[in-house]
Amino acid sequence: MVQIQEITNFANEKGLIISKDALEELSQQTDWKVILEELGKEDNPIVNKEALSKRMVKTKFSGVNTEVEIRKTRFNAYVKDRTPNFRIMGEYDVTGKSHCEGKKEDFLRLFRSKYKLISSMLKERHNLTPIAIKDLKGVAKNENIDVIGMVNRKWTTKNNHIAFEIEDLEAKCVVLVMEKEKELMKKAEHVLEDNVVGFKGVKIGDDFLILKEFYWPDTPIGSPKLLDEEIYTGCTSDFHIGGNTFLEGPVKKWLEYLNGKNLAGKKLDRVGRMQYLFVVGDNVAGIGVYPGQFDELKIKDLFKQYEAFEEVMLQIPEYVQVFICPGQHDAVRRAEPQPAISKEFCPRLHQMKNFHFIASPSWVETEGLKNLIYHGPSIHDLISSVSFLDMDHPQEGMIELLKKRDLMPKYGGRNPYVPEERDYMVIKEVPDFVWIGDMHHNGYSTYRSTTIINGGTWEAQTDFQKKIGHHPTPGVFPMVNLKNRQISEVYFMREGLEKEVSAK
Ligand SMILES: [Fe+2]
Repeated sequence: MVQIQEITNFANEKGLIISKDALEELSQQTDWKVILEELGKEDNPIVNKEALSKRMVKTKFSGVNTEVEIRKTRFNAYVKDRTPNFRIMGEYDVTGKSHCEGKKEDFLRLFRSKYKLISSMLKERHNLTPIAIKDLKGVAKNENIDVIGMVNRKWTTKNNHIAFEIEDLEAKCVVLVMEKEKELMKKAEHVLEDNVVGFKGVKIGDDFLILKEFYWPDTPIGSPKLLDEEIYTGCTSDFHIGGNTFLEGPVKKWLEYLNGKNLAGKKLDRVGRMQYLFVVGDNVAGIGVYPGQFDELKIKDLFKQYEAFEEVMLQIPEYVQVFICPGQHDAVRRAEPQPAISKEFCPRLHQMKNFHFIASPSWVETEGLKNLIYHGPSIHDLISSVSFLDMDHPQEGMIELLKKRDLMPKYGGRNPYVPEERDYMVIKEVPDFVWIGDMHHNGYSTYRSTTIINGGTWEAQTDFQKKIGHHPTPGVFPMVNLKNRQISEVYFMREGLEKEVSAK
């Protein structure tokens, strides 16, 4: 324990005024002198606990032999004094609101609620005039008719037609896609069990239709909303801190980049305009997430993994509003919707004004634009259920979910869901941006007015990924210019490489 008097004297020499709690914190730090030296270079002479946490210049990854030291290069960032404009849309965030007991009635309520929400979106489509399935009885044979149903069962008949058993809140019927209708057969692959879909067909019997067209609730056609000002939002994900494949060196370079180190001109100006950052889950490697994981960990204590995660986050400039959601590796329940990571695991970040812990999925409005933040496990499930999606294009999977307006497109796959009182998985609004992770693969797309960004990873290819032939894209950081939706990628595994990419 360092003498308190010694610290106080040194601080006085530097012209700093230290609060009692900051003094106590400093007395625990072996490098307190370095920290005070750094603080002395700042404009503000008041050192409270919050200011102290932000100015910790040394990163220690417990259990890792190397130490990463970042010396902040201060620069006059464009957004430094710009007032952020954001609102966490608490109405769509499950944190602190989970009271579900997982009873049969809870599941029934969830599926009924999903049916009601998505069918009301479908009813707004001008080309669909649905009737209740029970009213099929009153329709003449061979009449054209529209119904909305949740898919109960899907199968291929002896004659290679595809059949769907669908139901609404009162009745069931069967819809048949004829094998000769090649376009419809292709579309039928998109329709999974538990999807709520509009069906246009011809009545053959009181509970039997031949399909003419499918309809998804979809998002409306529209142009992306743009800001007048050049402000950037960044996205990153899947740090997996504590695992032996965590890429500590590239993360150090990323932090230097965010702090403007070795940057000039346009590049420096651009990074100084990043006011929002979404950190989209799998922040730490976790403990016991899969069998045998313990042997692959460098940090074998969950709290220490989060301590190391905090050290990384604390080096992000304080003018960036950082929103952090969990993933399957984080210290929250595995089933979705996942609540925010609690204060117990990230006490220092929880007390910072610019760090915000949110659920997955959750919604945040920034500059009047609606951001849907979702780690993405149901995209994973979707990719393994169909032939037209793959892990190298996670953004395409997200487009499927937008068309279905549902983040729980398939119940009973690998991904578990909790039947909460409110439905957090239906996409109730049209997002301007969707920020996803999970697939360890950067990917960008624009679907109608929505831009989709996958933040990639900071984990090298794992043995498991090698086995299944998945090639992740670690160390690539995307930022979007809100003025024109232009995406810039900065590469931290390949020194100096930057690319402008489009989100087609
Ligand atoms: Fe991950």
